[in-house]
Parts: sequence; structure tokens; C-alpha cells
Amino acid sequence: MKNQIEVISSLESYVDEELPRLLPKLENRWQPSDFLPSPENENEFYEQLREFRQETQSLSDELFIVLIGDTITEEALPTYQTMFNRTQGAQDKSGVDDHAWARWSRNWTAEENQHGDLLKQFLYLTGRVNMKEVERSTFRLIKNGMDMGANDDYERLIYPAFQERATKISHDNTSLLAKSQGSSLLKRICRTIAGDESRHEETYKKFVEKIFEIDPSQAILSYANLMRTKIKMPARFMDDSPLVTKTFDTFAFVAQKIGVYTTFDYASIIENLNQRWNIHYISELKDEAAKAQEYLSSLPSRYRKLHERIIEQISQTQTPNFNWLISRDQILT
Ligand SMILES: [Fe+2]
Ligand SMILES: [Fe+2]
Repeated sequence: MKNQIEVISSLESYVDEELPRLLPKLENRWQPSDFLPSPENENEFYEQLREFRQETQSLSDELFIVLIGDTITEEALPTYQTMFNRTQGAQDKSGVDDHAWARWSRNWTAEENQHGDLLKQFLYLTGRVNMKEVERSTFRLIKNGMDMGANDDYERLIYPAFQERATKISHDNTSLLAKSQGSSLLKRICRTIAGDESRHEETYKKFVEKIFEIDPSQAILSYANLMRTKIKMPARFMDDSPLVTKTFDTFAFVAQKIGVYTTFDYASIIENLNQRWNIHYISELKDEAAKAQEYLSSLPSRYRKLHERIIEQISQTQTPNFNWLISRDQILT
């Protein structure tokens, strides 16, 4: 049995080689201010803000709820950087380590930080959001932490491969809804963020692909173990108690209802990862690893069946009120 820490450390030169392709140069990168009214000139600012507000008034409450939940998820970034730094073999021990894993982790963090920045400023300027309640939810989420349900270091790299694809899908779907509800600005914002998530997804998939090449039996066991308890979403604990998931569950219900992130998407992510890592075709697996292969191959169709049942129930359930939103009659335009 191979040592996971040694396998991950041994990938450092590979990560180093790949980094230039995986990280855009800062001078070419978008910044949150590219998308928002610019306050430098007062008259222009008020004019831009008025147009901005007109455009965002047409967005539905349900779309706002999902966008807020996504923003809170992005804003809990300190938790995710800490999580990454628990991956032995890839840790940034000093905070300024020069090895490729550490450079990746800090650059990834800097990019993720801009997602929360942009989305939060967007929400603030719309005037449709009870910012104090959103800030409280973010505070509680960071305070309560997260449990990705990973038991080893391979799982700690497989988890973000799944999660980055999940966020890409959800920002992409939000972008489509924004377009259909008349906001080309929100469409562009979500598309741009989805572009980052797509690159992140590709990165983690590449890293894990290498692990599968070096240590297929253990890698497939880790992947199956992670999936057996179902992927635990990062924003689960945004309620008062670290063990309550009521707010998250309601947000996830709305995301499912309006098609931003559904059980069907969950199934499609597993299918995508299975294909990328050649799960069906890894040969000579024995015992538990062979069982894991069978289990993983059957998962997408199981979740697709579950999706059909869930969708039927959801279509008959009303969207509950959320204290994240200012009610329409309170909004002064
Ligand atoms: Fe993100
Ligand atoms: Fe990401």
C-alpha cells in the first residue's frame, strides 16, 4: 500500500509544470470593479446605479435566494483555505512556502476571494437584500466551520474536484436564469465566475487523475468512501447551531426548484468524474477496490432516479419566506 502523503508530494513537479496553464496572469484577469457602477465620478455613478437597479428589479425572489446562498458559500473562504492546508503532502506550512502546491493554493484562494467580493457588492447595490441577515449567515457559517466528510488525503483532493464542478454548474445555470429574467449584467457576472470554477475543476481533476495513475486501488477506495456518505455541501452550517442545516436545506430546496443545482446535476458530476478518471476501465482491481468500482459505476443512475422523485415533490411545495430578502413593498425605488 502506497503512502498517500508521499504520492501527493511526488506530484509537486507535475503541479509546477501545469501551473502556468492553470492560472491566468493577473494583468489579464477580470476584477470585481469591472462589473459594478464606478463611484469615481458622482454624476456618472448615480446614473449607472439607477440603470443597475432598474435592470436588477426584474430578477425573481427565488433567483435572489439562490444568489445569496451562493454568495455566502463563496464568502466562507477562510474555511476552504484551511481545508486545503490540511491535505498532507500539499500543505503551505509557513504561509509563504515556495513549492507548487502552496502557490496553487494561495492563487486559488485569491481567485475565490473575488467571487464573494463581486457577488456581495452586486447584492448590496441592488437594494433588494437584507444585508445584515446575509452578513449574519456568513458569520455563522465561518464560525461553525464545515465538515467535508473526508477521511484521508486523497479524499481531500477529490472533494474539490467534485465541488468545483458543482459550483461551475450552479453559476452557469444562474447565468442562464439571469439572462431569461432580463439582466445581462448578472448573466455576465455568473458566466465569468463559472469560467474560474471551470478552470479550478480542471485543475483538481488533473491532480486526481495523476493519483489514479500512480495508486489506482487506493484512489478508487477514497473516491467511493467520499461518495458513500454523499458529498457534504460547504455551506451547510449557516444556522445558529453548528449542527443545524435548516437554512441551508431551504436554500438548497430553492436551488433545486429553479434548476440551479439539482440531484440530476449531482448525478452528472459523478458521471463526469467517473469518465475522466476511467473508473469503469481500471483493470485488475481486487476485493474492496473492485466493489468500489461497481458501486461508483452504478451511482449516476441511482441519483437520476432519485431526482425524478424529488422533482415531483418539489413542484408541489411553495418556496418559504427568507429573511435574506427585503419584501417588495418595503423597497423604495
Ligand atoms: Fe468560487
Ligand atoms: Fe472555485
